[in-house]
Amino acid sequence: MIPSLDPKETKTSDAKVTLPLQGWVQGLRGNNHVQFLQLRTNGEIFQVVCEKEKLGEEMFKQIKSLPQETSLVVTGTWQDNPKAPSGKELLLISFEIVGSSSDYPITPKEHGPDFLHNHRHLWLRSKRQLAIQRVRSELSFAIREFFRNDGYTLIDTPILTGSIGESAGTLFSTEYFDLGQAYLAQTGQLYLETAAFAHSKVYCFGPTFRAEKSKTKRHLTEFWMLEAETAFLGQEGNLDLQERFVKSVLKTTIERTREDLKTLDRDPQPLLNYLEKPFPRVDYKEAINILQSAGEAITWGEDINAEREQILTNHYGTAIFIQNFPRAIKAFYMKQNPNDPKTVLSADLIAPDGIGEIIGGSEREESYEKIVERLQEEGLPPEDYSWYLDLRKYGSVPHAGFGMGLERVIAWVCGLPHIRECIPFPRMIYRLTP
Ligand code: 4AD
Ligand code: MG
Repeated sequence: MIPSLDPKETKTSDAKVTLPLQGWVQGLRGNNHVQFLQLRTNGEIFQVVCEKEKLGEEMFKQIKSLPQETSLVVTGTWQDNPKAPSGKELLLISFEIVGSSSDYPITPKEHGPDFLHNHRHLWLRSKRQLAIQRVRSELSFAIREFFRNDGYTLIDTPILTGSIGESAGTLFSTEYFDLGQAYLAQTGQLYLETAAFAHSKVYCFGPTFRAEKSKTKRHLTEFWMLEAETAFLGQEGNLDLQERFVKSVLKTTIERTREDLKTLDRDPQPLLNYLEKPFPRVDYKEAINILQSAGEAITWGEDINAEREQILTNHYGTAIFIQNFPRAIKAFYMKQNPNDPKTVLSADLIAPDGIGEIIGGSEREESYEKIVERLQEEGLPPEDYSWYLDLRKYGSVPHAGFGMGLERVIAWVCGLPHIRECIPFPRMIYRLTP
């Protein structure tokens, strides 16, 4: 059996120790005397130095002709190399082939995005993709850490649901035995609200589904959403929580992925600068005024599209909350604004640099009558929501929550123009495989 080994540990141990390393040939370059083999192991790439003089003619010839992605076990000694990313490289003593590879389709030359997405199952092995998935992994962990440290309980909400969570327009549905239609969850929120009345502070984190017909750089049909719901919390407190949460998890993630961001040519400093200052809380009404002054033909009541979001973040030079949207363009569960009944106590957090909306949230309507009225306006049958409406009957309290799209935040951290590389296997209107 091949011993499993963490190369990170070996870096700090005695450089003279001989250790086997298991991995894949990421690349090979050099000359007739020495070959530098890039070995991918544990998602990191190490340089293995192969010297003809040490290995002999025959073994050196074998190394030189190893095809890309051959899997190997190599044995060698660690030596210092300040130019190597880890500061160390392995001087090869011997190697053994585990699995052969030939004509690996992704070569070091340029490939178009369609070709790469068709080979996503292999593309995940490339250096930039390793970095992006590591950022995703660290961000996901930081999110769970934040809520755990803040006293929130994780509630896993269902993916197959019997009632519409957000809007009828973007639903995936399927036949469900004798019970009619089931929908893929657009949000865990309604279930999370019920759990907030049990645990007070709850979050869920999982895949959500929207049959978005738009081909944009920020829409997936399957994306991951973090949602939090807090009992006895109003909209101001909800915004304070969101701001503290976003700043905390972004700082933690950047700190833990500095090398990956270097691989992506992403200087995190401009992003860190945004996190040092408060995010302005801009009224929807004020946002419309700013857009009109910038020459946009927009009037009160319209939604704010991606281009206009960017005009607004450029105007403020940072991430902004847009709050108190018109009631008619927002979901049925948002609380009517007591100071301006045409609006709701809601906010979207808009990230700068063209990323756009990363969070949508609101205080929730506590009034049984008002929420039934909104369901009816939206053409949603209140009887499908009887369980949800029970919350407004048995100890209703002010409560608020929000949802953050994971992939959009990864795109922001990594400085990527499109969110499709931010999830291992993107699902979009025109893509279901691999
Ligand atoms: O604004 P949304 O639709 O809010 C909700 O679903 C609420 N139920 C959340 C809550 O209050 N618990 O979606 C929340 C976030 C958006 O701000 C965006 O970041 C992301 O989810 N999002 C998408 N990300 C990728 N592709 C899509 N099609 C997305 N739709 C929403
Ligand atoms: Mg939204």
